[in-house]
Amino acid sequence: MVVFPPCKINLGLRIIARRPDGYHNLETCFYPVPWSDILEIIPSAHFEFTSSGLPVPGHPEDNLCIRAYELARKEFNIPPVRIHLHKVVPMGAGLGGGSSDAAATLKVLNEIFSLHIHRDKLIEMAAMLGSDCPFFIDPTPSIGTGRGEVLSSVSVDLTGKYIVLVNAGISISTAEAFREVHPHAPDVALRDVLSGPVAAWRKELINDFEDSVFARYPSLRGIKEKLYAGNAWYAGMSGSGSTIFGLFDAVPETAMKFPESQVWSGKLAR
Ligand code: C5P
Repeated sequence: MVVFPPCKINLGLRIIARRPDGYHNLETCFYPVPWSDILEIIPSAHFEFTSSGLPVPGHPEDNLCIRAYELARKEFNIPPVRIHLHKVVPMGAGLGGGSSDAAATLKVLNEIFSLHIHRDKLIEMAAMLGSDCPFFIDPTPSIGTGRGEVLSSVSVDLTGKYIVLVNAGISISTAEAFREVHPHAPDVALRDVLSGPVAAWRKELINDFEDSVFARYPSLRGIKEKLYAGNAWYAGMSGSGSTIFGLFDAVPETAMKFPESQVWSGKLAR
């Protein structure tokens, strides 16, 4: 079975408090974007994992697809599979690509072995693999709270809008990014900002990681400014960085050039 795990952007990301378990309580809106990896999983005599496309850093056995398979095998005693991951979405990019691959692995295993795992159980398993994994079990616009794994639907609809994602090749460790932020409760609830006029998003829809990440990599602020200069009605960083996205009403200007960056653009659809 072949699937195309999408990525996400964060519309606002507030870091509210540090928790005794080392994680942080946050508030964010996850929004799916169809820039996707390609994942193939087939039953096989022996377990095998291979990848192509963008090189995946770290030990192959730490790959989230393998960890997802191991989790499902322990719980449901499933037979071996061959997994091939073609990596397209950049990593350490704030786009949740690896989390999406892991969630897709759970869903494909559920499907090909007819495990009949309930959605709630899939979400619980996904949360064991990463804080933003549960969103990808059913990637529809959602408010994430807790460490990002407590999801509730939200009526934000960007259907028909154009998006540009700019990744300058800077890989950011999520754990390190969290260490640089001073948590605090926001004045306005994210849900209220999102349901307000989009003209106010520019001021009120805030990613708390931007200050520290932009201080370390000033070129990222330059990308955000360029997207605004190119007529984005909203631009910001996704997750803990480093991808910067812009939202546009019309086809984005071809004059916008982002040297040494990987750029993806498309029209958002439901
Ligand atoms: O959950 P995930 O494995 O993606 O998190 C990676 C790291 O990011 C965690 O080990 C933690 O240091 C940090 N994190 C956090 N608060 C969150 C999510 C992640 O501090 N809500």
